[in-house]
Amino acid sequence: MTQARSIPVSLGARSYEVRVGAGLLAEVGLLTAGKARGRTAFLVSDSNLPPSTVALALDSLAKAGFAVHTRSIRAVEAEKSLDTAARLLTDIASCRLDRLDPIIALGGGIVGDVAGFVAAIYRRGVPVIQCPTTLLSMVDASVGGKTGVNLATGTELRKNLVGAFHQPALVIADIATLGSLPEREFRAGLAECVKHGVIAGSAGDLLAWTERSIPGILGRDPGTLIELVERNVHLKAGIVAADEREDDAKDQRALLNLGHTFGHAIETLPGLSPDADPRHAPLHHGEAVALGLVAAAQCAEHLGLGEPGSADRLVGILGRIGLPVRVSGLPGSAEVLGAMRHDKKVLGGRLRLVLPTSEGVRIVEDPPEESVRAGLDAIRA
Ligand SMILES: NC(=O)c1ccc[n+]([C@@H]2O[C@H](COP(=O)([O-])OP(=O)(O)OC[C@H]3O[C@@H](n4cnc5c(N)ncnc54)[C@H](O)[C@@H]3O)[C@@H](O)[C@H]2O)c1
Repeated sequence: MTQARSIPVSLGARSYEVRVGAGLLAEVGLLTAGKARGRTAFLVSDSNLPPSTVALALDSLAKAGFAVHTRSIRAVEAEKSLDTAARLLTDIASCRLDRLDPIIALGGGIVGDVAGFVAAIYRRGVPVIQCPTTLLSMVDASVGGKTGVNLATGTELRKNLVGAFHQPALVIADIATLGSLPEREFRAGLAECVKHGVIAGSAGDLLAWTERSIPGILGRDPGTLIELVERNVHLKAGIVAADEREDDAKDQRALLNLGHTFGHAIETLPGLSPDADPRHAPLHHGEAVALGLVAAAQCAEHLGLGEPGSADRLVGILGRIGLPVRVSGLPGSAEVLGAMRHDKKVLGGRLRLVLPTSEGVRIVEDPPEESVRAGLDAIRA
């Protein structure tokens, strides 16, 4: 087995470690026993996981002496809901979990967010062990303690509107679970890795390393994947440690929204697809983030803040990964700008963009519309 790595997330009394390795699910029982004193465990899994992946975790928990209960949920945004959370809470209460008993989340960001939220509110907080099974959740969603569900208001599904900060007791990222992850989901997760590389900027060589490692990453070489997850978790852990709760005064965690104001607006537009084939619509979140990164870089260049050529460099990297860098059917800029003004990061109707500048990634308040339009024009096919 390739050597497992451990990355600390330093948050005082809420500190924890992120374990990254190949084959770690077989150790989930012992690792959980080291972090939670209870003897009953409740595992929430993703219904799309191969049964063998779930069995590995269940066996390991049973061997470590836990009485194990389990439920699976469907990883679709409509099921990331208060109804699903309520059903899980009822099941958990029926299994008589007490305050010390752990909830284990085995799945992508949807399972992690719902199970984490349930762990945050059941008995006002029980330990949660995050076991991410998508690349996105390994490098992003499972680390940092944001949990929550979507809320349907009328016809609108408002993402992550209800939630709580609840740091996990431990994160176990077993890259062997990525073996069954569909290619499109895998590539979508890489958009967040490129985003992290841009945020790291000249302070590290994350972007250059990612660029160099594209063949090994896409070939899913275990050693390269472990290093990819380790490097990205390290970047995210540093930001979370500096700004645990997305504090306006600290404005650190907000930097993780790079590309997301453009991305969220594009993601909500119906009918867009990564390759102009309507059968592949809608865009996945990571695909919209890839487009958002290019738009943000071009917007920064237009403002005279970005390093000349930075947008082209991103187009090169994202294109080699197989992520979209242009999209056909994008509506007029006025419509997209309208959608951007609806983004939750907008304060008082004024746009607030996270942009890559030559001095690092920073927040730009109320950028001129023509620069935002220049960003959007860069991604029109
Ligand atoms: N809490 C946070 O900080 C945070 C950060 C980013 C995103 N998120 C949330 O994460 C969610 C997206 O997460 P995601 O991209 O991991 O997607 P996901 O959880 O929707 O999973 C994507 C798809 O892959 C399937 N899947 C997952 N693991 C698999 C595996 N190993 N093999 C086969 N299929 C597998 C799922 O069933 C689903 O169909 C969104 O709801 C988003 O809001 C949360």
